[in-house]
Amino acid sequence: MAKISRIWAREILDSRAYPTIEAVVQLDTGQVAVSSIPSGASVGKFEALELRDGDEKRFAGKGVLKAVDNVNQVLGPAIVGMDPVKQAEIDKKLIETDGSKNKSRLGANAVLAVSQTVNKAGALASNMSLYQWVFKLATTAGAAKENLGTKIPTPIFNMINGGLHGAGNLDFQEFFVVPATSKPYSEALRGATEIYYLIRESLIKRGAIHSVGDEGGYAPNLFTNADALAINLEAIGNAQYQIGSDFFLGLDVAANIIFKDGAYTIRDRSNSLSSTNLIDYFEEITKEYKLTLLEDPLQEEDWEGWKLLTEKYGQQILIVGDDLLVTNPERVKKAIEQKSCNAILVKPNQIGTITETLEVIRMSREAGWKVIVSHRSGETNDWYIADFAVGVKADFVKFGAPARGERTAKYNRLLTVEAELAQTKSV
Ligand code: PGA
Ligand code: ZN
Repeated sequence: MAKISRIWAREILDSRAYPTIEAVVQLDTGQVAVSSIPSGASVGKFEALELRDGDEKRFAGKGVLKAVDNVNQVLGPAIVGMDPVKQAEIDKKLIETDGSKNKSRLGANAVLAVSQTVNKAGALASNMSLYQWVFKLATTAGAAKENLGTKIPTPIFNMINGGLHGAGNLDFQEFFVVPATSKPYSEALRGATEIYYLIRESLIKRGAIHSVGDEGGYAPNLFTNADALAINLEAIGNAQYQIGSDFFLGLDVAANIIFKDGAYTIRDRSNSLSSTNLIDYFEEITKEYKLTLLEDPLQEEDWEGWKLLTEKYGQQILIVGDDLLVTNPERVKKAIEQKSCNAILVKPNQIGTITETLEVIRMSREAGWKVIVSHRSGETNDWYIADFAVGVKADFVKFGAPARGERTAKYNRLLTVEAELAQTKSV
């Protein structure tokens, strides 16, 4: 049995140049695990608290020295001596040590940095690949069943960035291209990347700006949100793929940002829209652009609207709760009861520990929902989340566009895992 001998953390930079935490877990076997954690820009109101220093003299107030200190002085010492394979026990200890409802005392960024790095250390101590180790934990937690298999989760590519992630003028945050789930991962990645090149050509031709946004998708100026859908659709055709069988389209509306004073506003419509008006608009664009997935189509407190949308279209398309659910068991429970959606976006840093994340996945699976494991818009080159997604047998992953190092770190890691799993099968 291995023991945790020391834990420490430091402040590093994420892909948006904001500070984040890198943690190190050292075992008495001499093994060392290192991990860093991501950060969101369009943060749901009900997420666990990310602790920032607020000291305007450093990093415009975004420093994380307090959270780093909480790892070094409080959370680390609380679990030194414990066995890194006891993830559930360790996470329980971390939750108790924080003691608040939403990790606001020590910071969800501090708590997750420890929980996630312990997860990596557990894999080292068990002499397993991280994804195999996560699968073992997920099985124990009831979050994954049967064999690990060889299937890599289907990647959802964020080709055009708008909202809080874009540099252009689009309201919706993410315009997806989604490969058919039957496509082998490496083929899906290649096809989507070819489509990505053609989107760039199309934007250049139209004279739209073609810089990239926070998640590596283009951040153009276009007249309407529907124009961005049209560009993705056209690129699929230009790449000689069939929309509706090879590739599909989807959206993360991130509707919190288009909602103000009781109404939704989008550049595609001159009047502001009620929840039902917006649902009618979604019906139109779903037909026209063959959308198969709508993430956060309505704001995080529009429970009635979510229910209505799922009642109407839940049999045809994936309706994904991100800000609605914030990887939180209580909100997931409510959404299951109210039949608010049929898929969940899972982000460990919305809740703060790996064990709680596994519990949310267990609940979601039991409800028959699809599971999408996601990065955040602020990322590091750590590919932890790719292994986590494989280990919990996620249906989909969402790691941004197939561009920018912090996104390709995850997509490339999945290529390695795909090759490893294929080898296991042939043995
Ligand atoms: P965030 O965005 O990481 O900025 O919150 C991702 C998402 O909304 O899915
Ligand atoms: Zn989202």
